[in-house]
Amino acid sequence: MVTRKLAVLAATAVAALALAACGSSGSTASSSTSAAASSTSAESSAAGSSAVESSAAASSGAANAGSDELPAVDPAVLKDAVIGFAQVGSESGWRSANTDNIKATAEKYDVDLQFTSAEGDQSKQIASIKTFITQGVDLIAFSPVVETGWDAVLNEAKTAGIPVILTDRAVDSDPSLYRTFIGSDFIAEGEKAATWAKTEFAGQDKVNMVVLEGTTGSAPANDRATGWNNILGNDPAFTVLASQTGDFTRDGGKKVMEGFLAAHPDIDLVYAHNDDMALGAIEAIEAAGKVPGQDIKIVSIDAVKAGMEALAAGKINYIVECSPLLGDQLFQASSAVLGDQQIPARIITIEGEFDQQQAIAALPTRQY
Ligand code: AHR
Repeated sequence: MVTRKLAVLAATAVAALALAACGSSGSTASSSTSAAASSTSAESSAAGSSAVESSAAASSGAANAGSDELPAVDPAVLKDAVIGFAQVGSESGWRSANTDNIKATAEKYDVDLQFTSAEGDQSKQIASIKTFITQGVDLIAFSPVVETGWDAVLNEAKTAGIPVILTDRAVDSDPSLYRTFIGSDFIAEGEKAATWAKTEFAGQDKVNMVVLEGTTGSAPANDRATGWNNILGNDPAFTVLASQTGDFTRDGGKKVMEGFLAAHPDIDLVYAHNDDMALGAIEAIEAAGKVPGQDIKIVSIDAVKAGMEALAAGKINYIVECSPLLGDQLFQASSAVLGDQQIPARIITIEGEFDQQQAIAALPTRQY
């Protein structure tokens, strides 16, 4: 670790000199690539020959307990390995479950986990990653707040010889700057939500919908919108009355929904990019004297326990699963990378979908 730290400090100094010589325009130019383009490139790599899926069952909540497409963990490699993990923040129930799962899995393998939380601020997340580089950690993992703006720091990590793994969310940087991206297919999640809506409202000439968007510029917000539009974007029955970010938070979902309800008395459907915003919307709908799930239907994404309880109670009508249990796959991939083994460039999380009866059946064994 000491030798590695010295090498890393030297490499960091070289990188700093190189960056000073070049200025920052090179990195910002390429990080201005459109979010839509990055979604497309992330998904095309997902569809490529290197894409693999984890083998565990989704809807049991035991999904993603590891991937049989990755080499088994070598406990000796992970023991005392220093891994920096830069988390997005604590915006949702999903995020809390993801954080708990990553910390618990690190403990299981005796990893020295250096955990930071950016509280939704990309500059804080970049600062954490830079600190990990200076410390000379063995590997860096992070779930990026937004898709763009990572080229410079990823290049610094590469120059320092520190491998990077993305979990949960994609970036628009060149895939050569990180070893793998482990997480959901967010476009598929949006498509599943829209497919449910198409069936649910079949035969209805006009469906007035509102959208509670996730964090602006984040991969899940971009891709869940793309997925929805892939199925219903050209369907004349579906009219989007309003679409606004609730930042993946319950409070945000509630406030934005209050505004929607005040402006539009005739909402039929809410598409919430996550359960927390759907739960906030339920509060707003009830406060407006309407019945969520009946007067206004709701479809959301995540399947965290509170969302599943609302679904079981008939207040949400359908949930598409997004699994936060990424810890086993992350440390399996870390073990392989630190053990100099090849791994796939994309690892897609297996996920289910739930209606009311399926939520009632799944709840007793739901892990998060
Ligand atoms: O990136 C995953 C998304 O981030 C989850 O759907 C949402 O709840 C979280 O905040």
